[in-house]
Amino acid sequence: MSSVSIEDELLKRAAYFEDILEKSLPAEEGYAKTVIEAMNYSLLAGGKRLRPVMMLEAFKLFAGEDADDTTLRPFMLAMEMIHTYSLVHDDLPAMDNDEYRRGRKTTHVVYGPGMATLAGDGLLNLAFETAIKGAVSGKELVYYDGDTSNRYLAALEVLGRKAGIYGMVGGQCADICAENNHDYDDETAKAVLHYIDENKTGALIESSLMIGAILGGASAKQVKKVEKMGSNVGIAFQIQDDILDIEGDAKELGKPIGSDIKNEKTTYVSLYGMEEARKKVKELSDEATEILREFGQKDTFLEGLFEYLIYRKK
Ligand code: IPE
Ligand code: IPE
Ligand code: MG
Ligand code: MG
Ligand code: MG
Repeated sequence: MSSVSIEDELLKRAAYFEDILEKSLPAEEGYAKTVIEAMNYSLLAGGKRLRPVMMLEAFKLFAGEDADDTTLRPFMLAMEMIHTYSLVHDDLPAMDNDEYRRGRKTTHVVYGPGMATLAGDGLLNLAFETAIKGAVSGKELVYYDGDTSNRYLAALEVLGRKAGIYGMVGGQCADICAENNHDYDDETAKAVLHYIDENKTGALIESSLMIGAILGGASAKQVKKVEKMGSNVGIAFQIQDDILDIEGDAKELGKPIGSDIKNEKTTYVSLYGMEEARKKVKELSDEATEILREFGQKDTFLEGLFEYLIYRKK
C-alpha cells in the first residue's frame, strides 16, 4: 500500500473507532459534571487513535479479517482512555507544561490543573471499569496457555501492568528524573533513555498489540513475539516524536514543538544526534516488520502502518 492509501486507511479505521467511542462517553450530568466534561473534552479532541487501531489489527491477525470484534471493543476504548489520561497529565504545568494538544488548548488550560488531574484519574478508572465490564459480559473464549487460561484476565493483567510502574508510569518517572540531569555518565544516560522510550511510549503500543493478540486467539508464545514487535514500534514511534519536536510543524502536529528543549529532556536526538535518530527509527521499524512477516503476513495494513510511522509528520 502506498503511504497515501495508508493514511486514508488509517483515517477510516480511526473513524470506525470514534464511532464506538462517541457511543460510550459518560453523560455530562450530576455534581461530577465538570470532571466528566473535561474527560470528554480530552477524549474527543481527536488524535490519531493509533493504539485502538493497532489493537484491532493484531486481533484480526489471529481471529481472522472478518472476525466479530465485540469482545475487543471495551479494550480498545480502555486503551484510548489510558493513553488520553497519560497525555492530559503529561501536559500539566507540573510535568511538560504544554498548552496545545491535538490542535486544541490542553485540558488544564481550559479546566484548570486540578480538574485536569481529576480528568486523568477519571479516565484511568473508567478505562478499567469499561474493560472489566466487557470481560464480565463477553462471550466465552478459547483456552489460553499463559499464566491464566482466561483470555480476559490475561488481557486485563497486561492492561494494568503496561500502563503502570512496569510500563508507562515507570517511563514517565525516568523521563522526569532525567530532565536537566547531568549526573549520568554516557553509558547510564543511554540505558536510561532506552528505558524511557520502551516504557513511557513503548508499553502502551506493546500492550495494545498484545491485548489484540490475546483476545484474538494467539498462543502465549505468539503474544511474546507480538510484545517484541510492539516494543520496536513503540520505541521507533517515540524517537520519531522527538524528531518532530525539533523539526515538525506545530499546526500539523496539533501540539507545540520545542517542548523537549524547553524542559531539557533527554531524547534520542539529544544523545545521538538527528542522523542516528532517523537511522534508528528505520532499523526498529524494519525489525518489527520482520516479526510481523513471521506470522505469515505480508503487505498488510499493519505493515504499511509501521512503514508510514517512520515518515509521519504528525
Ligand atoms: C503522543 O502520542 C504521545 C507519545 C507517546 C509520543 P500520539 O502521537 O499517538 O498522540 P495522539 O493520540 O495522536 O494525539
Ligand atoms: C510522552 O512523551 C509520552 C506519554 C506517556 C504521554 P512526550 O512528552 O514526548 O509526548 P508529547 O510530545 O508531549 O506528545
Ligand atoms: Mg513528556
Ligand atoms: Mg509532553
Ligand atoms: Mg514529545
